[in-house]
Parts: sequence; structure tokens; C-alpha cells
Amino acid sequence: MTSAAATLEMVNSASGLADYLAAVEERLAVAIASHPGVVADVGADALAAGGKRLRPALTFLSAPAGLPASVAAGVAVELVHQATLVHDDLIDGAHVRRGHAAAWTSHGAAAARAAGDYLFARAFAELAATGDLAAVAVLAEASLALARGEAMQRRQRYDPDTAIDRYLERCALKTGKLFEAACVLGGGSGEYGLLLGIAFQIADDILDCTGDTIETGKVPGIDLRDGTPTLPLLLAAQLDPVVRTALAGGPLEGVLVRVAQSGALERSREVALDYARKAREALDGPGSSSGCRAELEALADAVVIRTG
Ligand code: IPE
Ligand code: IPE
Ligand code: MG
Ligand code: MG
Ligand code: MG
Repeated sequence: MTSAAATLEMVNSASGLADYLAAVEERLAVAIASHPGVVADVGADALAAGGKRLRPALTFLSAPAGLPASVAAGVAVELVHQATLVHDDLIDGAHVRRGHAAAWTSHGAAAARAAGDYLFARAFAELAATGDLAAVAVLAEASLALARGEAMQRRQRYDPDTAIDRYLERCALKTGKLFEAACVLGGGSGEYGLLLGIAFQIADDILDCTGDTIETGKVPGIDLRDGTPTLPLLLAAQLDPVVRTALAGGPLEGVLVRVAQSGALERSREVALDYARKAREALDGPGSSSGCRAELEALADAVVIRTG
């Protein structure tokens, strides 16, 4: 298997992608600046802090050969994503995002809440302006799923007996559905996107146990501290009563080391790779005639073995 960095470089060099992402970037700045004020400032900060722009890249790569992807679609999915991150850090009590202070840390909780709402609204305005009602419906469905996924996570909090299937359902709702929307809005396979998104979230949950802030731009250990039952934490809790107690709200000292020693990280990576494999297989199914199939296939493994 090649390194994630090399694979991502190959994906990023797909013909036309750099121009598409540059157009998305330009439009994102305009969309966020449309109503000057605190919320626009918070949004501009979040945008400037960076990010992989993976969802608009998926929109581009999903487009059928010869049919250019809509820039508005890429802008809209990235705006929804940014909205969720601004709200997510507030919900998770996470102080660092993209290597910078999270919005709620520098601007306060009320401003972050309002800014997230603003970014959601701007996303729908971008798509509505195209007159494509079906596209608006796709994004609305994904946004509803995101909220349902977060609510589900809240219910699962501090529960080390959360069933793995319920965890996977949560990943599909809070992450998979927006990946699905990114692909569908590009004209590609929603199934690929959904499966890729689940693999992506499992990888994120592994990185929360092991990740390096320099690479992820986030502080690890947030899920354990919040009592969020992720796959690595659930698998480790099945084997180690100390992890189990910690996940239920008990002492956290030394617990991430025990998670690593339990073998749960490797087992979680296997599950993620299995979703990546299923995502690749979905590209054989109906609704997938992307002109960038090799890149979509490469991306499937890259999202699992990534370090940032
Ligand atoms: C983070 O997404 C949120 C999850 C769904 C895990 P990304 O890792 O794509 O965030 P950025 O946009 O690159 O910062
Ligand atoms: C993904 O979950 C969040 C969204 C889909 C909004 P996390 O809470 O794990 O995301 P990060 O790790 O903070 O980026
Ligand atoms: Mg979070
Ligand atoms: Mg979260
Ligand atoms: Mg995370």
C-alpha cells in the first residue's frame, strides 16, 4: 500500500481539479462575506484556517466524464461541512480546529452558534440560486441526517455497551450522508460516498486516539474525555475494564495507552478498510460513470491510512 500522502497527491493532480477547487475557494469567500458582521468574520476565520476540501473534491471527481461538476454544489457541501465543524467544536468542547483556536474559543459560544447557522443558510442559498430543486433536497436530507447523527451521539454518551451497529449508523448519519451528497451533487454514486464517509469517520475516531496535533490540527483524546463511544473505544472497552469504566465517565489517566495496547486500533482500521473496499466496489454499480474512477478508488484507501 502506498502512503496516504502520495495517494492524495495523485488524486489532487486529477486534470481540472485544482482549477475547480480554486473556483470553489473564491466563491466560498464571497458566499461567507455576503452579509458583513460577526458571523461573517467567524466564517472567514474558519475558512482561512484551512481544511482538506475533501467534499468539494469528491463532487468534482464524481462528475461523469465530459460533464463538469457544478461549482455551486462544491461550495454548498463545503459550507455545510464548515457549519457542522463550528457547531461540533462547541458541542464537543474542542478548543483547537485546523491548528487554530476553534470558533467558540475565540468568539464565544453564542457567536459560534450563530455563525454555524449562518454558514448553513449560506450553503442553501448557493444551491437555491442555481434553481436545482433536486440538489437542494439532497443537501437538506444530508443536513437533517447530520443533526440526527449528533442527537444519536448525545444519547449514546457514556455508554460502553453501545452496539457497534448503532455506532456505524451514527457514522453514516453524521458523516456518510454529507459525503453521499457531495458525490450525488457531482453526478456520481451516492453509495460510494456513504461508504467512504463511514470509513472516513472511523479513521477520524482512530486519529482521536493516536493522532498528532501537527498533522490533524486537533487535540487528541476528545472522544474519550466526552464519553463518546467510538469504534476503537468500544472495542477496547470490551477487553479492558479500565477502558470501559473510563468510557462510562470514570478516570481517564493512562487510558489511551491501554486502548492502543488492546489491539482495538488495528481492529478498527480493519473495519474502516472493509468500508473502503465496499466503497470501491460500489463504483461498479449503477449511477457511477465518473471520469476520475482511478482517483476515487485511490481515495478510498487514502482516507483510512491518512494521518491528518
Ligand atoms: C472533520 O472533517 C469532521 C469529520 C467528519 C470527522 P475533515 O477532516 O474533512 O475536516 P477538514 O475540512 O479537513 O478540516
Ligand atoms: C464528526 O465528528 C463531526 C461532524 C460530522 C460534524 P467529530 O466530532 O469526531 O469531528 P472532529 O474530530 O471534531 O473533526
Ligand atoms: Mg468534534
Ligand atoms: Mg463531534
Ligand atoms: Mg473526531
